[in-house]
Amino acid sequence: MRPWDDHRLVLIEREVKGDRGVIVFDAPTIAPLLWPGQFINLKVPGLLLRRPMAPAVLSSRLLLFVRGRGEGTQHLLTLSPGTVLRALAPLGNGFPLPEGRAVLVSGGTGAGPLLHLARFLVKRGHEVVLLHGAKDRSEAFFAPYLRASGASVRFFTEDGSWGERGYPTDALPFVLRPGDTLFAVGPEAMMQKAAGVARTMALPAYVSLEAHMACGVGSCLSCAVPTAKGQRHVCTDGPVFPAEEVRFHLEPA
Ligand SMILES: Cc1cc2nc3c(=O)[nH]c(=O)nc-3n(C[C@H](O)[C@H](O)[C@H](O)COP(=O)(O)OP(=O)(O)OC[C@H]3O[C@@H](n4cnc5c(N)ncnc54)[C@H](O)[C@@H]3O)c2cc1C
Ligand code: FES
Repeated sequence: MRPWDDHRLVLIEREVKGDRGVIVFDAPTIAPLLWPGQFINLKVPGLLLRRPMAPAVLSSRLLLFVRGRGEGTQHLLTLSPGTVLRALAPLGNGFPLPEGRAVLVSGGTGAGPLLHLARFLVKRGHEVVLLHGAKDRSEAFFAPYLRASGASVRFFTEDGSWGERGYPTDALPFVLRPGDTLFAVGPEAMMQKAAGVARTMALPAYVSLEAHMACGVGSCLSCAVPTAKGQRHVCTDGPVFPAEEVRFHLEPA
């Protein structure tokens, strides 16, 4: 039996600032099924191919951090409350559970799956530290959602206009300690740097990869990536991979 289905979602809230947005959907049939790190393949009105999105779960709702990159995501940011959409879900593997403390590093819309993970782990009694990085203060309106996770949260911007100046990965060597597990979702350079710090400290690290997707369910080859274990499909073998299996494009680490 296939693990996913085609679900109905209703957009109930939308806050957009520039090319970033926070969108909340009522999705009572998806929310209980979505493990942290799994994704949905969202049908955007007027477009043939669905767009993969990794939301956080808030009770029976899904919260998406969206960056308007192209036609699909820009259109998503203009939809009004009450709009009904469809999504294939739950898709992908999701994050493994850590044994001890979890240190989460997010960049941009990578905050969505890590917010889901933070809430999930805090509810189960884990200590969670979340470091979020952005170029500037354009994502400052994400802050209340991330703070409400119950994790210890720090914000970093390249220009220092919001939170601490610099990259979250600069702080990692001082934050990580023995027994921690690292989870990183965001730009590839950030994930590569974070994975490198964890490797130096011999700590387990997991990253969530982005790839162009068509089907989202393993039936086409559009999301294939080379890994240490050969070609893998980001949609079904991932999107979460142990960092040591990932062939980052930017060499050397
Ligand atoms: C598992 C997963 C979870 C995701 N979660 C989110 C999320 O929570 N919020 C969010 O805003 N986005 C998320 N994304 C990225 C999102 O799916 C893409 O930005 C979106 O599909 C782009 O569609 P578009 O029509 O806006 O842009 P397009 O017109 O399709 O493309 C616009 C530009 O972005 C580039 N691009 C498109 N898709 C990707 C991609 N996957 N990786 C790198 N470059 C790409 C294209 O090459 C092009 O230059 C996720 C992607 C994956 C794989
Ligand atoms: S998107 Fe079709 S195989 Fe992954």
